[in-house]
Amino acid sequence: MRLDKFLTHTGTLTRKQANAAAKAGKLCVNGIAVKRSDIHIDPENDIVHYAGQPISYHKYTYIMMNKPAGIVSATNDPKQKTVIDLLPEALQKIHLFPCGRLDKDTLGLLILTNDGASAHNLLSPKKHAEKVYAFHCRRPVTPQNQEQLEQGICLSDGYQTKPCKIKMEQPTSGFITLTEGKYHQIKRMFEAVDNQILYLERISFAGIQLDSALPRGAWRPLSTEEEAAFTRTIGQANDLTQDAESSKNTFDE
Ligand code: URA
Repeated sequence: MRLDKFLTHTGTLTRKQANAAAKAGKLCVNGIAVKRSDIHIDPENDIVHYAGQPISYHKYTYIMMNKPAGIVSATNDPKQKTVIDLLPEALQKIHLFPCGRLDKDTLGLLILTNDGASAHNLLSPKKHAEKVYAFHCRRPVTPQNQEQLEQGICLSDGYQTKPCKIKMEQPTSGFITLTEGKYHQIKRMFEAVDNQILYLERISFAGIQLDSALPRGAWRPLSTEEEAAFTRTIGQANDLTQDAESSKNTFDE
């Protein structure tokens, strides 16, 4: 594989940046500075450094983002800023997409990947991947409301939600854990009990916790452990799919 292709594939540098980095002596292969970025390397065995940092080869990229408000969870939008716009240029070119959507005003954990098959698997309604959200709402959640929401509630369009878990911290704030993700689901669930969500932040998804040290709007690659947790959930998800008869395999977020 060409060195510049290796660097673009891993989302490290664009081809132009790779060329400039080589000329500036910032690229090393097996400890030796290289002057050209079009040389061929063995991505599995050669050791590449960019600006002193080792760059490991991986087939797919997995990114954790702490989504801020006011940004849409899409790959492109003619009018609005997307989560992809928050990434550096090199990462914008490797076809990452958000694994499940958050509303424009929802904050918190978003996983971006270019591992299409796994993301599709994970998002299928049959997969039961848990998503935990911190919420604040306008009115106190009564014990009856909590029970109704936890057992599953009929939304305004007639959809019956699946059972979920709610842990109240204060009368108007707590955590809700869903295993599905219909459009505006939590907001509509709370509307169904005459309440209103004022703040929503995803703090966990498919076994991965939002890194509390990651500032709002910032991103970082998933750690090896997080990537393993993610792919483990995908594995479990695959087991569930095989059990489920005739899954339509549709995205529902
Ligand atoms: N439920 C919502 O209402 N909005 C989100 O962004 C996520 C879940």
